[in-house]
Amino acid sequence: TDAVPFPGAHQAGIVTPAQDRLHFVAFDVTTGDRDELVELLRAWTAAARRMTAGRDAGPVGAVDGDPDAAPDDTGEAIGLPASRLTLTIGFGPTLFRTADGVDRFGLEERRPAALTELPAFPGDELDPAISGGDLCIQACADDPQVAVHAVRNLIRLGTGVVRVRWSQLGFGRTTSTSTAQATPRNLFGFKDGTNNLKAENGAALDRFVWVGHEDGGGDWLAGGSYLVTRRIRMLVETWDASSLDEQQRTIGRAKGSGAPLGQRAEFDPVDMTAQGEGGPAVPETSHVFLSHPTNAGTALLRRGYSFVDGSDGLGRLDAGLFFIAYQRDPGTGFVQVQENLRGDAMNEYIRHTSSAVFACPPGVQGEDDWWGRALF
Ligand code: HEM
Repeated sequence: TDAVPFPGAHQAGIVTPAQDRLHFVAFDVTTGDRDELVELLRAWTAAARRMTAGRDAGPVGAVDGDPDAAPDDTGEAIGLPASRLTLTIGFGPTLFRTADGVDRFGLEERRPAALTELPAFPGDELDPAISGGDLCIQACADDPQVAVHAVRNLIRLGTGVVRVRWSQLGFGRTTSTSTAQATPRNLFGFKDGTNNLKAENGAALDRFVWVGHEDGGGDWLAGGSYLVTRRIRMLVETWDASSLDEQQRTIGRAKGSGAPLGQRAEFDPVDMTAQGEGGPAVPETSHVFLSHPTNAGTALLRRGYSFVDGSDGLGRLDAGLFFIAYQRDPGTGFVQVQENLRGDAMNEYIRHTSSAVFACPPGVQGEDDWWGRALF
């Protein structure tokens, strides 16, 4: 079948070979009752087990129940295969302590120090209405209808306990997370994901992606990972009017082959010292030069998607990259790389419009386990 196993040491949807489609949703918890929240996490886990196996959200299904009651599945995935659906949950800093300092669920002492709001970065144009969140669920699948069905049914189950804060659809993976995958292209037309951390890089994943027992915050997060999302508008009209040479020098790679400038093939190493005509082959202000581990001093697992959310009313597409990164610690992951990208030539062509950070617990183990059990 095309089902991705739901249980495991780590949650699926992180190193799982990136599917083609995304529906991401962030929630605010509206109840103050810890038991109601736990009940929802159990119900969500049960529904996630079923839906990732290609089944209905509830045990009765969309059409076989009491005709006088609302069905326990909404029905639009009837007949569709599992489509490699993964559902990945994360807990935001505000679940542990609200912005006003309220510890609603007695979780504050279990909050790992690394789970704090991200710092502001120069050039940020963040909209608070589409940033943050107490909880998130990342749904990835090869069929958009399957991903949307899953999120919609989880929202339905959350009625009275959580409220959707914001949500984002993504239509084309912008990375590969396995060496078995071909590298896709982003909306700038460049191959994206060449130098990503991948499922096969076990030692690097332990070093840069998975939270360890020694990392603090208690054991509930060991085997999990931190998730950072950034909705990044790409000013595609400006980009499309720039020369091929300017585009390639902005990224630091050739648009056709994806090879680092000064090299021949996509997977050739990025040579930070090679000289080209008129200076370094990979310009020191290029995106690749500044984000490369030898310069940024760290690595991330990127798992983003392209989006086009209509137009902006000013004759331009509201298009971009919904950036998703998994890391062992946001401070030494996203924050460190993003600070290093301060002088990135690409900044002229992008705007960060939303931001969020979540701690994603390890995978559920066995039939009785549920999302976040070790935290509560
Ligand atoms: C590499 C595009 C945002 C971190 C790349 C590559 C492209 C690209 C084309 C080269 C191919 C590859 O190795 O994957 C973009 C676009 C972005 C964006 C279009 C925004 C719209 C970011 C952000 C970060 C980031 C926000 C982190 C803060 C990286 C890293 C690499 C990379 C770590 C690998 C560099 C290497 O090891 O050689 N990106 N990127 N990118 N990007 Fe981005």
